[in-house]
Amino acid sequence: MSKPMNQAYQWPEAGERRLPRFIYTDEAIFAREMERIFFADSWNYVALSCELPNPGDYILSSIGNVGVVVSRDRKGEVRVFVNRCPHRGARLCERRKGNNKLFTCPYHEWSFNLEGRLVGVPLSRGVDGKGGMSEQFDPSAHHLQQLHVAQRHGVIFASFSNTIAPLTDYFGPKILKYFDRVCDGRPLKVIGKHKHVVYGNWKLQIENVKDTVHAAILHAFFTLFGIWRSDQKTQIVVEANGRHSVLASTATFTKQEGSSSTTANGEFQLADERLIAHSPEFQEATGAVMTLWPNLIFLQQLNCLVMRHVEPVNSNSCIKTWTFFAYADEASELTERRIKQANLLGAAGLVTIDDNEILASCQQGIAYPQDFQCVLEAGEGNGDCDYMVSESAIRGFYQYYRQVMEL
Ligand SMILES: [Fe+2]
Repeated sequence: MSKPMNQAYQWPEAGERRLPRFIYTDEAIFAREMERIFFADSWNYVALSCELPNPGDYILSSIGNVGVVVSRDRKGEVRVFVNRCPHRGARLCERRKGNNKLFTCPYHEWSFNLEGRLVGVPLSRGVDGKGGMSEQFDPSAHHLQQLHVAQRHGVIFASFSNTIAPLTDYFGPKILKYFDRVCDGRPLKVIGKHKHVVYGNWKLQIENVKDTVHAAILHAFFTLFGIWRSDQKTQIVVEANGRHSVLASTATFTKQEGSSSTTANGEFQLADERLIAHSPEFQEATGAVMTLWPNLIFLQQLNCLVMRHVEPVNSNSCIKTWTFFAYADEASELTERRIKQANLLGAAGLVTIDDNEILASCQQGIAYPQDFQCVLEAGEGNGDCDYMVSESAIRGFYQYYRQVMEL
């Protein structure tokens, strides 16, 4: 365990009700986050299992700011490797996804099999009996760096930690109940991907989804068309130590006559209701947004199902990768509906685009000189509550963050 952060990083006396500027702007803090959060005791979302159905299939992902390759080996096991050749450090795999029999580094063409073993070194015997690899070179000592892998109902997580708790203990029953509500073991299929930069610290993006207060204020579309109101039935569920949370909420919809779908009751009506009309398919809430420590946003809203992977780049930006999914065996009309709603809730949709802009604006303002603290005074405590105007889930997140970061 390294030493606590020095005096330059004093957390405000008000505890989690104030967030200091340096956690969003300081590169030493960012480096500490990588070391203590992403490369330590965390299960990091990397991909959906259905993205690599066959042996040799792979897809690129990340853990913190480290690129990884998620792949399926010859026996069908999922493996996660650091995307780095152990020879000279080059990126081993460049294509975003594909199918390989071997992973071959472009620099000197060292080749690795699907289990990560070094199986080919060109020119290892030199040329014309001269040169080549030395006597002491042992290929078995140079395999790919491999991470621990855990899966639940088609969702793949990986960890650098040798001491990490099993996935079920890591999430705990309160959170798993919501996870399993959508990912219940039915086979999944990917129906779309978005990827874009957010010009804000990765934690601003996580906070944004835990921030129930802004939804009915910033997102005018939500309120005007009746998809979201601050007085709708709401449950904020926070895991005991604060790191994961769920916002489960129910908008009021009216059943359409002679149809299985429902439409919103808002001040305005869309000429074409297909964007927001939805078929109810889950118990308890019309939307459940989970934020799973450290950086997965698992969203179900109306018929939109998506994993939003928030990939930290540096202290002032992150990349958000969206994987929209559906159930493999569902009716094609339902899949169509999910794709349509990606235009509402996706990266350039009528809602998220507000967040992208406001997060960049916050990042810029927070970075202005001099001292600055964000204020989190809405609601009480750092845990569960049954009303919307609360920042308790954000405070819960920082309660755990401070513990891990020793701040
Ligand atoms: Fe938002």
